[in-house]
Amino acid sequence: MAIQRTFSIIKPDATKRNLTGKIISKFEDAGLRVIASRRIQMTREQAEGFYAVHKERPFFGELVDFMISGPVVIQVLEGEDAIAKNREVMGATNPENADAGTIRKEFALSVGENSVHGSDAPETAAEEIKFFFKDEEIVG
Ligand code: CMP
Repeated sequence: MAIQRTFSIIKPDATKRNLTGKIISKFEDAGLRVIASRRIQMTREQAEGFYAVHKERPFFGELVDFMISGPVVIQVLEGEDAIAKNREVMGATNPENADAGTIRKEFALSVGENSVHGSDAPETAAEEIKFFFKDEEIVG
């Protein structure tokens, strides 16, 4: 498998509980490298734009409100098969369905407050990275 890049967000429920380092360790232990990182307070416009694909979902308003409820850490992760590997380390979206040892099983509070976001495909990874990072901010 090729070296890939993926986009990750450590969400407000995790930053509030000071879990940033523990979550990054899970990525690094799985062979993923943090090649860009920034802690930000997302604006409503950014959250609505980032999650535009979910605009028609009943939980969209709740999702946007949550994502701007506190700081998030946005990152680019690089590694062998990074997109699938990151999704494996995160576990299922709903922590009730997540495997033991995954980030969401250990840390997530609910399907909404689920501690992390990760890109689901190469095209979305490229779009999501571009949404938040300039090329010169990514140092592989
Ligand atoms: P994420 O990977 O960030 O992409 C979309 C998010 O929507 C997802 O993680 C969940 O946190 C959130 N989500 C999915 N289903 C629900 C739901 N039923 N209620 C609230 N949030 C949801």
